[in-house]
Parts: sequence; structure tokens; C-alpha cells
Amino acid sequence: MKSTSLLIPLFGAACVSAHGFLATVTINGKSYTGNVPSGTTNPSIIRQVSTPDPNKGASNPALTCGPNATDASLIGTANPGDALTFSWKGADLSNWPHNTGPMLTYMASCGSTTCDKFDDTQAKWFKISEDGKTPGDNSTWLQQRLMNGGVANSTIPSNLAPGNYLLRHEIIALHLATSLGGAEFYPACAQITVGGSQTGAPSASDLVSIPGAYSDNDPGIFDPNVFTPDAPYVFPGPPIASFIAGSSSTASTTGAASPTTTGAAAASSATTGKTCKIQKRAVSNDEVDIFVVRPRHLSRIMRRLAESMY
Ligand SMILES: *[C@@H]1O[C@H](CO)[C@@H](O)[C@H](O)[C@H]1NC(C)=O
Ligand SMILES: *[C@@H]1O[C@H](CO)[C@@H](O)[C@H](O)[C@H]1NC(C)=O
Ligand SMILES: *[C@@H]1O[C@H](CO)[C@@H](O)[C@H](O)[C@H]1NC(C)=O
Repeated sequence: MKSTSLLIPLFGAACVSAHGFLATVTINGKSYTGNVPSGTTNPSIIRQVSTPDPNKGASNPALTCGPNATDASLIGTANPGDALTFSWKGADLSNWPHNTGPMLTYMASCGSTTCDKFDDTQAKWFKISEDGKTPGDNSTWLQQRLMNGGVANSTIPSNLAPGNYLLRHEIIALHLATSLGGAEFYPACAQITVGGSQTGAPSASDLVSIPGAYSDNDPGIFDPNVFTPDAPYVFPGPPIASFIAGSSSTASTTGAASPTTTGAAAASSATTGKTCKIQKRAVSNDEVDIFVVRPRHLSRIMRRLAESMY
């Protein structure tokens, strides 16, 4: 075949292909900017990743801090009880393209080493928050906020002991999770130092390795009922660490997406989001083959594209 990289316009492809990365973390109102995957490396507290593409498979080493995450040069400062926000964007800085699945936040001690020198494969993680559906609305995951241009939230535990910590935020996009292995993992890590004089610490049973904490068969990862209204949702990984005051999760018993949404429709709703643009991009022969059909089949084609690319 002569054309493995034709340039042709694909409607909505900008959104389909963008996926994303952790663009900004705020700690108690102070913003820290992350670097575009494989882009210019500016000083940051967020470890830069190599690609915005989804990470599949619960044992994928990219689950630690993202694909090929490299140590960042800066350390953010935090105190117990500080508000955290996580702003995820598409790789082209468009809004985050997914809206189905949980968001989870973990921390790990870097010990006496500042986290700019800490090997994340050695990290023992404890969970500090997990968010599923919008309270009182089983049809909308909190992840929808990111698609709308908003942020994800968490909090430094109010009784956390001071020290050097990696902060790991993770989106698990479940729009293809009705198939085993369909879940998409998007983790990212920031390097911080927590001050104060609290004493809270995880117990050994709160600590997990990542990868290691999840299995592809976990009910919150392979979830045939992810689009069934009011189906229970079971967060993967350990419970929120027991030392955390008032540890509880948001909408921990809920798990459905929009009652009218199918996996394909969820994917195509992302492709029609308001930030989507018509773009030229390289496509493979397979995609060209799919595209060379009559216009009346366009919506079916777009669904197939979304399913194959997402
Ligand atoms: C990490 O980088 C290597 C070499 O650059 C590449 O082959 C590999 O696919 C990357 N891993 C991920 C998860 O992107
Ligand atoms: C999340 O953080 C933002 C920015 O601080 C704030 O406006 C918003 O109210 C927070 N949302 C929740 C649910 O705490
Ligand atoms: C959400 O679903 C749960 C079952 O998972 C149910 O108990 C609860 O009443 C539902 N909430 C709403 C607002 O429909």
C-alpha cells in the first residue's frame, strides 16, 4: 500500500485522538502547570509523560505515574487539609474528552528523599479520595465536569504527617469497559512536600503497589453494567486509608452513566463536544478503508472510528 499516512480531514478526530494529560494541579489555590506529553520540558512539579494516549491493562507499568513518566524538577508545597484541584486537558489543550468512569487520588511517601529523586516504581500508595457519580444524580459521573472544562477535586488529608510525597491522580475512562481490557487508565503524579505537625500515616494494610492494586477483572474495571442506570459501582484498589478523617467516597454505590447512553454513543458524544475541530491528521490504511464509504453511513463510521481509536 502506498499510503500508510495519508492526510485527510476527519471530523471530530481532534477529540478522538487527543485523549489527554494532567495540565494543571492547584494546591491551596496555587497553580502548577504540567508539560504537554513529549513536548517542551519546563520546570514543573508534575512528572511529564510520553504520550496522551490511553494506557490499557491493569498490569501496565504506565499505571504508576503515566507512560514513561520522568522525574520533574520542582517540588510543590502543601499543608494538611489543603484543597487540591486537577485540571486534565486533551493533548491540544481542548477539554478532557471522556465522561464515564471514576477519578481516584493516591499518595506515596518518598521517605527522606525529595520526590524529584524518587523512583516511583518503589512507591507504596495509599488512597486519599475516590469520586464516582455526582451525588444525587446516577446519570452523571463527576468526570463529566472535566469534559465541561471544570476540574477534579481532592484534599490533602487534614491529619497527614509532614514529609515528601508523590501525589497521584487517576482517571479511569470506562466507556469501553463493557469489554474485558477496555478500560483506559490515565494516571499522573506530582511531587510535593507536606508541612505541618500532624501524625496521620497509612497502616501497612492501606498500602499498595501500582501496578498491582488492580486486576482487569475487577468489577470497577471490567464493568458490563457501566451504562446501566443505578447499577452499583465498585471502586477498584484499596479503600481510602483508614487514618484519613471522615474517610468515605463520593457516590460509592452508584455506577451508571446516562440512561440513554451506549458505549458508542458516549464515545461519539465526546467527538461532538464543543471543543472539537476539523483537523487534518495522518491516518492508517485501516481508517481510510473505513472512511471510503457513502456519506449516509457516516454516523456508523464515526462510531466505529471512535470504538477503534478510543
Ligand atoms: C516508553 O518509551 C519507549 C521508548 O521511547 C516506547 O517504546 C514505549 O512505547 C513507551 N511506553 C509507553 C507506555 O508509552
Ligand atoms: C473544586 O475546586 C474548585 C476550585 O477550588 C471549586 O470552585 C469547586 O467548588 C470545588 N468543587 C468541589 C465539589 O469541592
Ligand atoms: C443511585 O443508585 C443507587 C443504587 O446503586 C440507588 O440506591 C440510589 O437510590 C440511586 N440514586 C438516585 C438519585 O437515583
